[in-house]
Amino acid sequence: MNVEKGFVDEPVAEGTDLRAEIQKLKKEKDAVILAHYYQKGEIQDLADFIGDSLALARIAEKLPNRMIVLCGVHFMGETAKILCPDKIVVVPDLNAGCSLADSCDAGEFKEFIEAHPGHTVVSYVNTSAAVKALTDVVVTSSNARQIVESFPEDTPMIFGPDRNLGNYINSITGRNMVVWNGACHVHEQFSVEKLVELKKQHPNAKVLAHPECKKSLLILADKIGSTAALLNYAVQSPEKEFIVATESGILHEMMKKCPDKTFIPAPPSDSTCACNDCNFMKLNTLEKLYNALKFEQPQIEVDPEIALRARKPIEKMLEISDRLGI
Ligand code: 13P
Ligand code: SF4
Repeated sequence: MNVEKGFVDEPVAEGTDLRAEIQKLKKEKDAVILAHYYQKGEIQDLADFIGDSLALARIAEKLPNRMIVLCGVHFMGETAKILCPDKIVVVPDLNAGCSLADSCDAGEFKEFIEAHPGHTVVSYVNTSAAVKALTDVVVTSSNARQIVESFPEDTPMIFGPDRNLGNYINSITGRNMVVWNGACHVHEQFSVEKLVELKKQHPNAKVLAHPECKKSLLILADKIGSTAALLNYAVQSPEKEFIVATESGILHEMMKKCPDKTFIPAPPSDSTCACNDCNFMKLNTLEKLYNALKFEQPQIEVDPEIALRARKPIEKMLEISDRLGI
């Protein structure tokens, strides 16, 4: 079996009922499938749990199973492995990275921290284990505001790596965190001009935006939040039409939960591309998921020393979130 390409490169026999085989393998292997909302719809439909980054970390931590198949991107698999070092954690395609995590090299982040002595280091979960190992507390878009606010007002802080989320949290908390200059290529590409035009055509539509979007777009939003928060807003809102400024995978669960409502993807700057798709998230396929379960590969491995240091700020995030009821 060959995993050199970052996934199990084995042809699946013609006529295999992938969905049925995946269910069978899950039982045989005592495995659980966790999927992020940005995964292909067919993967979300097969998952035991779907959720945002915070929910996936929380679920992983509590699972009794022997194996976790994390259908998401690499840092999500790493977070699960750090929390569950004794479990087998596989991601169907290890090439599923994250442009935001890649925008923060651990060596450069260390220099950034050293240039700001005495600052508490807050890192978004979209980071490598090596960056988390340099961090005091990890946050997700679900809990960033409350975790930042849980520190005394005069605490000097560094926030990395997402400049849009960091600046947004500064703006709503009145804090003055020093923000690393990173971004996500999917969330940065929405067109503010085209969104304004779209709103004119759909005057009753509510705009839902992930805080990784640019400030110029966030100021047009009716709701800013994590994938789970945007989904909940859509479910609970009496409104019937929504423009969604985040990765397109979330539309699958929105449409499933709200079949009577209309969801319109926010327009990308380049209308000829599939830019609302995260190319990393979409690397995972049913075939790769099937092979990952069957061969228990490719596994996420984290250097034990880094994992030990990275675990502390993740646990701190989970503790504060539990205490605050997030
Ligand atoms: P959530 O934590 O809101 O699910 O976001 C994860 C992510 O990668 C956003 O691009
Ligand atoms: Fe990373 Fe952006 Fe993809 Fe989220 S959408 S996983 S932040 S590249």
